[in-house]
Amino acid sequence: MKKIIIAIDGHSSTGKSTLAKQLAEALDYIYVDSGAMYRAVTLYALEQGFISDKKFDTDALISNIENVNIEFKKEGNNPTVLFLNNKEVSSKIRGMEVSNLVSKVAALPLVRQCLVKEQRKMGQHKGIVMDGRDIGTVVFPDAALKIFMTASAQTRTQRRFDELTAKGEQVDFDEVYENITSRDHKDSTRADSPLTQAKDARVLDNSQLTQNEQFDLVMEWVNTILEQ
Ligand code: DC
Repeated sequence: MKKIIIAIDGHSSTGKSTLAKQLAEALDYIYVDSGAMYRAVTLYALEQGFISDKKFDTDALISNIENVNIEFKKEGNNPTVLFLNNKEVSSKIRGMEVSNLVSKVAALPLVRQCLVKEQRKMGQHKGIVMDGRDIGTVVFPDAALKIFMTASAQTRTQRRFDELTAKGEQVDFDEVYENITSRDHKDSTRADSPLTQAKDARVLDNSQLTQNEQFDLVMEWVNTILEQ
């Protein structure tokens, strides 16, 4: 059975990981959330005191980057439980503290080089769905299917707000909106691997699509490619 690489990029909170997980499950592929890897490095930097909202000791982070061990493990039917140096951090990396600092960490070329190397290793046997910002442009430029996801900032803020409040985090709608739009700006304007649409990516604007409609549409794309 032919296996392909599916690269999903796009703005934050467009539902990339929901779609990627659905596809991975339907196709029995590996799912990798590359954003979680940047978040894990950010959490490491926070815990080591290398970064805060006032300072960022980039040299300290870079010289310790080899000490950051990131692993995804399958637990029950959750394929993406994230471990940072053997400690389970799946929820911690989603908090506002990490969210507010992750763009700074993701802008460091050395951090990107290390993570991209890991990501390519994960995809060496294909049969993988990876989501992020540079998957179709940098990590897997030869991916058979590239999807660029987008939705209005208002729709995305509502989704993130609902996700955080469901977890019991006290958040303000405007703060979430500000976080999402400022990350869009930083992700799209950074010098190294900015978020851009690959020339051969298919655009998926899901502001008006249900999850099922979106999944069915993408499975049609996948099946067409697999039949070629
Ligand atoms: O997808 P996310 O919101 O969890 O990503 C967290 C941050 O990491 C986001 O600000 C963009 C950055 N990122 C990146 O630069 N490259 C990737 N491949 C994935 C995420």
